[in-house]
Amino acid sequence: MNKEELKGQFVAQFGQEPQTFYFAPGRINLIGEHTDYNGGHVFPCAITLGTYGAVAKRSDDKICCYSMNRPEEKIICGRIGELKHAAENGWADYPFGVVSVLEKAGYHLPHGFNLAIWGDLPNGAGLSSSASLEVLTAFACRDIFNWDISLIEIAKLCQKAENEFVGMNCGIMDQFAVALGKKDQAMFLDCGNLQCRYLPIALKDCSIVIANTNCEHKLVGSEYNLRRAQCEQALADLKAAGVKIEALGDLSEEEFLAWQEAIKAPLCRQRAHHAVFENQRTIKAVTALERGDLEGFGALMRQSHESLRDDYEVTGKYLDALASLAWEQSGTIGSRMTGGGFGGCTVSIVKDEHLKDFQAAVGAGYKAMTGLEASFYVASVSEGVHKL
Ligand code: GLA
Repeated sequence: MNKEELKGQFVAQFGQEPQTFYFAPGRINLIGEHTDYNGGHVFPCAITLGTYGAVAKRSDDKICCYSMNRPEEKIICGRIGELKHAAENGWADYPFGVVSVLEKAGYHLPHGFNLAIWGDLPNGAGLSSSASLEVLTAFACRDIFNWDISLIEIAKLCQKAENEFVGMNCGIMDQFAVALGKKDQAMFLDCGNLQCRYLPIALKDCSIVIANTNCEHKLVGSEYNLRRAQCEQALADLKAAGVKIEALGDLSEEEFLAWQEAIKAPLCRQRAHHAVFENQRTIKAVTALERGDLEGFGALMRQSHESLRDDYEVTGKYLDALASLAWEQSGTIGSRMTGGGFGGCTVSIVKDEHLKDFQAAVGAGYKAMTGLEASFYVASVSEGVHKL
């Protein structure tokens, strides 16, 4: 997609020229899954697949949205001050949610705008297509209305829109990575205090391969919120037993093992086990990478997937098939699911000389195991949201 095509579509739909263009990336997470809302660490990076947007001001108070990916949904409009979460908003629930939360946070929209988007992120694939759309909307508002708002604040308010407007109790990782990503850098983010350290992601003779199960993660809303509630219950039980922590991410493995009996429900204990060990694994993985120990990093990626499969139970047969096939390939350094789970994508670190064989073997094995075709993308690490 180039600006000219987006501009042509914008003019065809809205009968006016767009004034500004933006890009918001998607993200992959290399390790640290379901740790963000537990005050733990994550290690994502923004990718060059993402959402392109063209915007022009309107003279009335409407927000009108058009997606080139969903032309059948036509133009979807809502009025500032009256935006409500609704099924008939379709994909525009995300921009509407962001505008609604921004307004409530005191950011004034003197008038509405038209927004046309096009994206090359597969939807519902765990690569943060929703966060990409949210951050794009907030960033465009900041630009056209000249608001003084930091990217961190944008990330927080977009998370709030997803939690309170859309109803998905996600953590901060996706919005943070989309807003504050840097080209060729991974982000070691402590979600407890939002301290972020950038690390160059130069993998010598290796690439990061995204493999899409092409099975939409449909359960993600309800099951995701359930996992989060189970972790909150575990934390409440630990606090009630006198453990002085603010989040599960505050615990070392040893502390967790010493205190775990305080968590009453076995299932909540199991979920918390993942949250605590995954957080520690993420810290170890980043240390390994900094030492140049890519093999060590890869081994931790595999352990992460196994924990998400056995303790957190968010992988499912499609992601398990892709990960286990990847582990068998000679050029694979590491492989795991990325994002919320229940379908979506895996990320694998693969030696460049084996890239073709990897895709052929994993693709064929996946087809034989599931009947589905997987799609593969070699990831390039992008900067966060920006103007084009
Ligand atoms: C989704 C959420 C994130 C994070 C991941 C799991 O992508 O949006 O906040 O919790 O799942 O790590």
